[in-house]
Amino acid sequence: MKLKVSAFLAVAACSAIMLAAVAACAFPKGEPVDNRREGILIVAFGSSVPEGEAAITAVADAVKSACPDTEVRVSYTSRIIMRKIAREQGRVIDEPAIALAKMAYEGFTDVTVLSTHIIPGEEYDDLKAVVEGFRIISDTAPKAGFRRIGLSLPLLSSSADFERMAGVIADTYAAQGKSGAVVFVGHGTHHFADAAYSALQTALSRRSPNFLIGTIEGLPSYDDVLARLKSTKAKSVHVAPLMLVAGDHAQNDIAGDEPDSWKSTLTAEGYKVTPVLTGLGQNEAVQNLILDKLREALDSTR
Ligand code: CO
Repeated sequence: MKLKVSAFLAVAACSAIMLAAVAACAFPKGEPVDNRREGILIVAFGSSVPEGEAAITAVADAVKSACPDTEVRVSYTSRIIMRKIAREQGRVIDEPAIALAKMAYEGFTDVTVLSTHIIPGEEYDDLKAVVEGFRIISDTAPKAGFRRIGLSLPLLSSSADFERMAGVIADTYAAQGKSGAVVFVGHGTHHFADAAYSALQTALSRRSPNFLIGTIEGLPSYDDVLARLKSTKAKSVHVAPLMLVAGDHAQNDIAGDEPDSWKSTLTAEGYKVTPVLTGLGQNEAVQNLILDKLREALDSTR
């Protein structure tokens, strides 16, 4: 009986993957194109620590399962990180402009750039400009560019996105949110898109006053989080990154042992602090949100 159940689950899982594959990557009917070569370029800020790269690999694996017939490549935007990986590990990772130039050279015709950014901030603006550049090349010198090039939106791009993300992280941390508070720490930015974090807080607060959003470089700030935390009755706090990867920021600024980390300062305030070192990219429900963004990008460029 046990075997049968697991066999059924295996079949169910397989057909779920196949459904996802059809939904994510099928071309519209009645549009045959000769020599079509489709590719997906995943773009992440990057990470040079294994725990951070694990989250990017997890996203890439989810995309590959959803799109088994499409070539999937990964590029980073942080030159510092790419140079560090090349120097220390001898691995070459391309930034988006180089990755796209190589794909054009290799004969890809239809390329979808999958942003893994959380908010449409400066990093995303830069990526958009690179894609725009390739669109101009494709329009003016088709042989040097692509037949089609699309770009997905970041995870927090609309009011519906705030609700979806709030639902996903509230579900993921339901148990921790009942026994104490959960603080999700995003990167934060001077860019206007920083407002996305406060909007996400609004959507999360509706689910539980124990879920708090903070950022390292923007708003809500650490002090904003502390003030809200004091208004809850929580004695214990889980601190989790609201970032694709649990990389340098998560390991040092959030969970580090230095006196100014979030873990240390909240501990000094009297809270029992448990750091979570898992990036959003490792959360299957977040991977599905990213696949939804991919799907939207594929639909709008085809
Ligand atoms: Co940073």
